[in-house]
Order: sequence, then structure tokens, then C-alpha cells
Amino acid sequence: MSDALNYLLKARPEALGHYFAFLKDAGKHLDPKTRNLISVITKVHAQTERGFRQYLGRALREGCTPMEILDALLMAFPALGLAKIIWAVDIILDMNIPEFNPEALVSTGQWHDVMARTAMKDGEVIRTDCDGRGLFIYRSKSSFQVYDSRCPHQSTNIPHLALNGSTLTCPKHQWEFDVRSGECIKKGNSPLKRFKSRVAKGRVQAFW
Ligand code: FES
Repeated sequence: MSDALNYLLKARPEALGHYFAFLKDAGKHLDPKTRNLISVITKVHAQTERGFRQYLGRALREGCTPMEILDALLMAFPALGLAKIIWAVDIILDMNIPEFNPEALVSTGQWHDVMARTAMKDGEVIRTDCDGRGLFIYRSKSSFQVYDSRCPHQSTNIPHLALNGSTLTCPKHQWEFDVRSGECIKKGNSPLKRFKSRVAKGRVQAFW
């Protein structure tokens, strides 16, 4: 939410309450994916960059594929026009989201070799890169939790320095995460994206 809306919510809670009730009620008969795609399109139409980054991240998190998002942008051509679609795609490219790479768009996913099982001690957290993707990995006994290093808020690629013990703080707006669970524990409301993982022949592998 923007700082201005936060301010108005505090200054005039009774007035803003109606607005939020309206937003909550609108679209209640739509499935979440459709709601998310419409939200993305409205942000492109209004050209609010921060909102677009946020709603794009939410749409991906809640199950929209990059191809569906591109389809939605293209289908909205009569309302958006080419200039706004290009504006949106420029922001997508600037966000450098691996899922939007042309090869990834048509991929159905595969296992990636991340590291040797013995490379981490029990209870340790590390940040590493694998096949063009940043990862945070937490080891608990024999299990490994593998998270995308991109913040679920606006897709900031969170650096290693953001790690303090088991707490990860995104440098952009200071959302905090517990890497043992992936949950957001301060400021935000969305967990880190977690990839399916396994240990095979002494190697930690992750699926995306
Ligand atoms: S991008 Fe906003 S907290 Fe990470």
C-alpha cells in the first residue's frame, strides 16, 4: 500500500474503511488468478510503477504464469495501447525475473544441482547462485529448505548481507523473514518463495 493511503487510513479511518470494503467486495465472484490478472492490468493502465511491481509479484506468487500475464497484457491492448504494454515489459525486464526468460517461458521445470549435501552444517543458512537464480538455503538435520532470493514484495534480489542469524531483511522496504520457515515476520504479509528440494546421491537439488 502507498504511503499516502497509509496516511489517509490513519487520518480518516472511517472514510477509507468504505473504500477498502468496496475493494474487498469487488471481484469476490472471480477466481484469484483472474482477480490478480485484472489488478495487474489496472496498474499498467494507471502506470503506477510501484503498484505494478507489487501486483505482478503477487500474481506470480498466487499461481499466474508469466505466459498468462503476457497474454493478459496483450489482450488488454485495445485499452492499454502499445506504449503502456512496452512500459510494463520494460519494468518486467528491469526486475530481471528468471521466470520471464524466453527459455523459461516454455519450460515445464526441471531439477537443478545446487551443491553437495556436506557443504552445509546443521542449522546453517547460506546464500548461493544456481543456474542464474539466487537462493537462500537453510539446513535442518537432513532436510534442506531452498528459497528464491527474490523478495515476495517487489522482487528485489536480496543479498547475502541481508542475513543476520536466521533473519533475512530485504534492504528495499525492510520486510523481515525467518529463513527457518520462510514466513514474513515483520512489515509484510507474504512468505519467501520456496522451491521443492531433495537430496540425491549426496547432492542437494531444487526444482523450478
Ligand atoms: S521489495 Fe519491498 S521489502 Fe523487499
